[in-house]
Amino acid sequence: MVDHSNYDRAAREWDANHIIHPWHDFAAPDPDARSFVTHGEGVYIHTDDGRRLLDGPGGMWCVQIGYDRPEMADAMADQARRLPYFSPFNASNAVSSELAGKLAEISPGDLNNVCFTTGGSTAVDAALRFVQFRNNVLGRPEKKRFISRQFAYHGSTYLSASVSGKERDGSMMDVDQSVRILPDVCPSRRPAEQSEAAFLEEKIADLRNAVIEIGPDTVAAFIAEPILASGGVIIPPAGYHAACKAICEEFDVVYISDEVVTGFGRLGHWFASQEVYGITPDIITSAKGLTSGYAPLGACLISDRLLEGLGEAGQAFKNGFTYSGHPVSSAAALKNIEIFERDDILAHVREVTPLFQRRLQALQDHPLVCDARGAGLVGCLELSADGARTPETLARDYQLGALVDQFCQKRGLMVRPIINLAVMSPPLVITQSEIGQMFDILAAALDDAKAVLARPPQSG
Ligand SMILES: Cc1ncc(COP(=O)(O)O)c(C=O)c1O
Repeated sequence: MVDHSNYDRAAREWDANHIIHPWHDFAAPDPDARSFVTHGEGVYIHTDDGRRLLDGPGGMWCVQIGYDRPEMADAMADQARRLPYFSPFNASNAVSSELAGKLAEISPGDLNNVCFTTGGSTAVDAALRFVQFRNNVLGRPEKKRFISRQFAYHGSTYLSASVSGKERDGSMMDVDQSVRILPDVCPSRRPAEQSEAAFLEEKIADLRNAVIEIGPDTVAAFIAEPILASGGVIIPPAGYHAACKAICEEFDVVYISDEVVTGFGRLGHWFASQEVYGITPDIITSAKGLTSGYAPLGACLISDRLLEGLGEAGQAFKNGFTYSGHPVSSAAALKNIEIFERDDILAHVREVTPLFQRRLQALQDHPLVCDARGAGLVGCLELSADGARTPETLARDYQLGALVDQFCQKRGLMVRPIINLAVMSPPLVITQSEIGQMFDILAAALDDAKAVLARPPQSG
């Protein structure tokens, strides 16, 4: 039984009785069901029951520079003392302006215009609303529809949820049904007889056919994460992004690259679209690693080209938030970028990525693993009790990610369980020996889980 102090006990009761968490389960609340995190240091978090865990998910794919950075706290405190807030609607401030200039500098191509938001969902929302606004202004109000993909996750506002393609997230929730969701782009799930080249052709054709079928005059934007992150770290086949970008250009469809996860170093670059996948999108959305999770902030980066002609219409883009470009969040982002540059974190990610990916791939042979996939410092194990991958085995294996996470936590590692997946996106400052520790624990936890599954069910 966990021994909590009175305050910790009370906090658990308040949590169970009063908080509706993201993806909340309304079944009877269990005050002891959640880990309570008290503080962090480097790549580790500490819980109220005295455990120290290596943070496999990096918070929520976001704590790039790790925990316990006094200089981040100082930068935020200084800004809070100087100017905690002022309205972005009728004034501006130096710190969010400097950040906008910096983002224009580090983003690819002519993505020089920043719509600040409060997080990833609102950055996606702003991107989609901007595209619709622009088409209204350009006199083509029928060009409004969006195309996305199965297993995409773009957020939790009505519009960003509408372009998400994860079935589980859509169930019992209302979304805009006019969004076209293209089929799975995961190469390892293609039919056994299909070559990777044929799979690539099929995926490209999926987009082209959808645009033609819906009608190029009505399709406004294609939105795509370079890697489908919370949908299961799905990496589309090589050549996919460039081909999709070309189709978008052909049909005057805006290409929105959702880099909320892949941006800010996860793949060893500020943004993955151009440096890793060779495309310059029309819009990039960013959040999470932008402040390394130290403060909430999102950014929708829009190309110069998309702004052409908008001024002439004399119409305002009526989108924005009280906290757009919040000064304290902007100060956190600027300090975060300074730390990235000073400590050469992007180069560090590129240096340790081969070890991370090698250790991930080595688990491919484990009997519980049916697929190991990843890129940069993000990885995912798809789990199956017997190696099979069908809708029936998925129903059976629904809790397998959670089971592996439980065993990891007993050994000092937290991973992110998503149904039958165990996902890792650790702080980018993780060292080679911490990567070793992480995968040693993961391998042992897989053995633990396998041993439990092999036990005959208890009778009576
Ligand atoms: C690719 C992607 N886009 C958007 C979002 C939404 O971001 P937020 O939770 O900050 O609203 C997420 C969150 O995980 C994401 O992974």
